[in-house]
Amino acid sequence: MKIHGPSIVLIGMMGAGKSSVGRCLERRTGLTLLDTDEIVSSKFGMSIPEIFAKHGENKFREAEAKAVRAMAIPKKTIIVTGGGIVLQQENVELLRRMGVIVWLDGNEDTLFARASRRRNRPLLQTKNPRRTFSQIFDARRSLYADIADVRVDTSVLTDEEVSVAILSKLGKVNPGSRSPSPAT
Ligand code: S3P
Repeated sequence: MKIHGPSIVLIGMMGAGKSSVGRCLERRTGLTLLDTDEIVSSKFGMSIPEIFAKHGENKFREAEAKAVRAMAIPKKTIIVTGGGIVLQQENVELLRRMGVIVWLDGNEDTLFARASRRRNRPLLQTKNPRRTFSQIFDARRSLYADIADVRVDTSVLTDEEVSVAILSKLGKVNPGSRSPSPAT
């Protein structure tokens, strides 16, 4: 299937399925996939938890912003972002210019269950990861909502179903005009 329009940018909380849905979209569309976490990880030559442990979150955020800047190329791609990409306004502005922003949302309990399946989320290595997740979820939802063109609730969908839902919604998005509030 060919996409006629800008890049597809996936945003959303940890556990929303951005990486696996990105891979489904890559397969279905034939577009190249770029993943900010993968880029940062390969720049440092270590995993995301190791980067947080050895260099701290600020260094990670700097490298993440650099990865977004490097993605600003006039080529249609699938862009997968880390959950915190919306924390920096510069990232938000660049991503909006790159393509259609697709917010993978979901019910908080489901997202937490998925995010905590593997111990690869440094931000959840706290005494009470459930509470930490809830605080991040509350703080981020309006940031995702503000920038999203399209929202997909992933709670009860498989990755394949989410990717089909995205492609069907994108068929209805006019890349030249952004709606003031995200489509549902
Ligand atoms: C983060 C999410 C992670 C990763 C890093 C920080 C966040 O990516 O970028 O651990 O701030 O929410 P995923 O959203 O793919 O888990």
